Amino acid sequence: MITIFNLKNVISINDFEKEDINYILDEAAKLESVAKSQVSSNLLNGKILGMMFFEPSTRTRLSFETSMKRLGGECIGFDNTTSSSIVKGESIADTAKMIESYSDALVIRHELEGVSKFISEIVDIPVINAGDGAAQHPTQTLLDLYTMKKEFGHIENLKVALVGDLKYGRTVHSLAYALGLYNVEMTFVAPKELRMPREILEDLKKNNIKFTENENLNEVIDDIDVLYDTRIQKERFPDLEEYLKIKDAYLINHDMLKGKDLIVMHPLPRVNEIAYDVDNTKHNRYFQQAFNAVPVRMAILKNLILNNPKFPE
Ligand code: CP
Repeated sequence: MITIFNLKNVISINDFEKEDINYILDEAAKLESVAKSQVSSNLLNGKILGMMFFEPSTRTRLSFETSMKRLGGECIGFDNTTSSSIVKGESIADTAKMIESYSDALVIRHELEGVSKFISEIVDIPVINAGDGAAQHPTQTLLDLYTMKKEFGHIENLKVALVGDLKYGRTVHSLAYALGLYNVEMTFVAPKELRMPREILEDLKKNNIKFTENENLNEVIDDIDVLYDTRIQKERFPDLEEYLKIKDAYLINHDMLKGKDLIVMHPLPRVNEIAYDVDNTKHNRYFQQAFNAVPVRMAILKNLILNNPKFPE
């Protein structure tokens, strides 16, 4: 079994055993007071995190930066290619090699699946996938699980509906695999055009992981603990007309939630999936979820950087 102590990179949630995930969630809980700036830490003093963001980001980039700085470390990098020499024609591989020589770990977001894996094969420092196209977003999954555990005290036996764009939404791809490690009742709610990809459904079936699919949120909303909503990923639709037809497929508002005992999560950004009248209700956990990125990413950085043999403590 791989333990988190032996994970050099975070590329896919499928590289994690359940014990590894539980370990990171426990580590994150221990770092909450540092994440909230109640206690200071110099655990990563002198270490530098390199960041290569080829796609826009608010939460992932800024929470990685916050996590590194709260642990006493620093960050370098770029959040768009126009400010790097990639605009002059430099390759991603050469760019990553440069950042390797300046930093102790590398976070990368790219629109193409597999780019973070490729980079992890050509550099010696730990590489973290901050989202690769429509494929995976493993650190988001860890913070999603952390949010559920913080709320319910456990993940086992929860009833979770993943709702919205299950075809292009990378967060739900990673999350479905991770929830499969726990005894969770999973329902996938999406219009038929945006169903969970067949290969993921087949992987789940192969591993005897139970799930149901439904196009109608009203048929499942009375019997779930977690409604995990997602944005329709406009930027990944080859045909804008197709996007316009289904962009408002599931808009959740306060009226729909009245009398329900569930929390609403969303990786954010939201566009037209959660009405603003849900924000001040007992159901809203999406802002808390975004904060939870900090202790979870602190736990990931601490373990990857301090356990990298290139940088023995
Ligand atoms: N959840 C998430 O990945 O948000 P950003 O795209 O803002 O990083």
